[in-house]
Amino acid sequence: MDRLKGKVVLITGATGGIGKASAKLFASEGAKLVLLDLDQQKLNKLTQEIGSQIALGLTTDVTNADTMTAAVEETCNKFGRLDVAFLNAGVEGPIKSIIDYPNEDFDAVMSVNVKGVFNGLKSVVPVMIENNRGSIILTSSLGGLRGMQKLSAYIASKHAVVGLMKSAALEYAENNIRVNTINPSPIATRMIKSIENGYAPGASDVVKRKIEKGIPLRRYGRPTEVANLALFLASDDASFITGNSYPVDGGMSAS
Ligand SMILES: NC(=O)c1ccc[n+]([C@@H]2O[C@H](COP(=O)([O-])OP(=O)(O)OC[C@H]3O[C@@H](n4cnc5c(N)ncnc54)[C@H](O)[C@@H]3O)[C@@H](O)[C@H]2O)c1
Repeated sequence: MDRLKGKVVLITGATGGIGKASAKLFASEGAKLVLLDLDQQKLNKLTQEIGSQIALGLTTDVTNADTMTAAVEETCNKFGRLDVAFLNAGVEGPIKSIIDYPNEDFDAVMSVNVKGVFNGLKSVVPVMIENNRGSIILTSSLGGLRGMQKLSAYIASKHAVVGLMKSAALEYAENNIRVNTINPSPIATRMIKSIENGYAPGASDVVKRKIEKGIPLRRYGRPTEVANLALFLASDDASFITGNSYPVDGGMSAS
C-alpha cells in the first residue's frame, strides 16, 4: 500500500494506456504525481480521478527541452522534491519497410522516443543530484532488445533508449540515482491497435491473433502488468538495481 509513500513521481505519456495505469497504481501506493502529456483535457480528467491534492497535470511536449525543464521546476515548486521519473512517452510511427519509410516520420519517432527521453534525463537528473537519490525508469520495448519488420524507426529508437539508460546509470550511480528500462511486449493500449492496423488495415484482429500466437502466455499484456514492474523499479525494493533492462513480455524473450 505504501511503497511510494512520501515520494514525488513525474510521468511522461501519462494519459496513455501504460502511463495512466501507472499513475493510478503509484497514487494508490502513496505517491504524489506530476503527470505530463500533450492534451490538457485528458490530463485534467486524470488528475480529477486521482485527486488534485496529490496530482498535477501539465501539458508538456517531451520534444521541447524548455517545457520539460519548466515542468520539473513546477514539480519542485508544488511538491518540493522529485524522487522518481517515469519517462514513458512514445510514438510508434508508420508501419513501412525501410526503403519506403518517410524521412520525416523517422525524425518524428526519434524526436519523441529518443530526444524526448534525453530531454527528460537532462531536466530531472540535476534535481536528483541535489537530493543525492532518485529512480528513473525509461520505457523502452521488447523492440529495444530485438528487431521487428516494418518498424525500423521505432525499433532503432527503443534500442537507443537502452543506450541512454546505460549511459545515465553509469554517469549518475555516484549520485545514488538508479536508471533502468522496462521492455514490454505487446500491451493492450492504443499503440498496439495502431500497429495492428498498420500491418493489415481493416484486419487488425487477424494480426492480433498472429501476434498472440508468438507470445508464450498467448495474450497481450495489460497496462497494469507493466505498471507493476515500473512500481517495483521506482520503489526502494529495487534499491540495488540499476543499469539494466527488464522485459515484461509473457515469455517472448525466452525464444
Ligand atoms: N503498447 C505496447 O504494445 C507497447 C509495447 C512496448 C513499449 N511500449 C511503450 O510504452 C510507452 C507507452 O505507450 P502506450 O502503450 O501507453 O501507448 P499510448 O499511445 O496509449 O501512450 C503514449 C502516450 O505518449 C504521449 N505522447 C506522445 N508523444 C508525446 C510528446 N511529444 N510529448 C508528451 N507526450 C507524448 C501520448 O499522448 C500518449 O498519451 C511508449 O513509450 C511505448 O513505445 C508500448
